[in-house]
Amino acid sequence: MSLPAERRERPRPTAFRAFTLAAEVQPMSHASGAGTAGVSFPRTSAAPAPPADDAGRPRTALVTGASSGIGAAVARRLSAEGWRLVLNGRDAERLRRVAERAPASVFPADLTQPGVEHRLTRFALERTGRVDLLVAGAGIGWAGDFRTMPPSALEEVVEVDLLATLRLVRQVLPHMAEAGSGRLVLIGSLAGTVGVREEAVYSAAKAALGAFADSLRYELRGSGVAVSLVVPGVVDTPFFERRGTPYRRAWPGPVPPERVADAVWSAVARDRDEIYVPGWLRVPARLRGAAPGLYRRLAAVFG
Ligand SMILES: NC(=O)c1ccc[n+]([C@@H]2O[C@H](COP(=O)([O-])OP(=O)(O)OC[C@H]3O[C@@H](n4cnc5c(N)ncnc54)[C@H](OP(=O)(O)O)[C@@H]3O)[C@@H](O)[C@H]2O)c1
Repeated sequence: MSLPAERRERPRPTAFRAFTLAAEVQPMSHASGAGTAGVSFPRTSAAPAPPADDAGRPRTALVTGASSGIGAAVARRLSAEGWRLVLNGRDAERLRRVAERAPASVFPADLTQPGVEHRLTRFALERTGRVDLLVAGAGIGWAGDFRTMPPSALEEVVEVDLLATLRLVRQVLPHMAEAGSGRLVLIGSLAGTVGVREEAVYSAAKAALGAFADSLRYELRGSGVAVSLVVPGVVDTPFFERRGTPYRRAWPGPVPPERVADAVWSAVARDRDEIYVPGWLRVPARLRGAAPGLYRRLAAVFG
């Protein structure tokens, strides 16, 4: 499929014009993972979703977790598809590097801080006029014996992986519903579908996110607003290094974050409710649903 001329010839913004820093929020500086910003990806030609609405206005997306890993890959992918972006993460410098390659405004902020979701939504609407897509990618992990998990870590995992996303959806959704269109893409985890040993709180938070996506999808039927859940298995990002416990299993092997970005794009372009990454991971998820006893016996053997 060839691209329309205006898509091929759209001028790329300069880094100077593209980068706008939210003045009201101080950049956070405690994160140091290198992330994967800087890799560029070819535009795919299979995507049917138009890059502009009927009035010729570019589609706009708000992406959290955009300063690293999956969120950064999603930002690059959406940018390559012609979308205008508002990016959130905590690390202002890494966020700026991602934004340099996209028509993007950045809002560095810790999503666990009171009222941030409100300020972020207001910022996005002021900059772009409308949010067509929210990709909620911010997340952290914690692995280890639940009995030794510090209460502060327990609360942080639930705050970042669940509550912060729910609060942000609560802010963004009324604007989408009023516009009669929009999509919420939540980044879940296989851990939330099948439960993973020594990741009890992370699994619980991601399971709750999955239940939230299902419930909200029913609630929004007919509103023009769609909800997608993207369910990655293991992804090659700084996630494991940052949680302090490396990924040690030989199987399943990690996939690059661009595979998850492809899935997010597929959710948008093909109106998908739920996508596993890689796709075969839906098999253990379905087996657990269809034959939970068998699944538990297998999980006990294979871990
Ligand atoms: N990697 C995997 O194997 C895997 C598998 C399944 C699901 N996931 C999910 O995928 C999502 C992205 O993870 P990733 O692998 O890309 O990890 P990552 O590289 O560590 O990126 C995590 C992102 O979340 C942001 N973040 C963390 N805490 C935040 C907070 N309090 N406020 C605002 N932003 C915050 C980080 O911002 P800063 O870097 O600026 O601090 C960063 O942009 C998460 O929801 C994760 O649970 C990951």
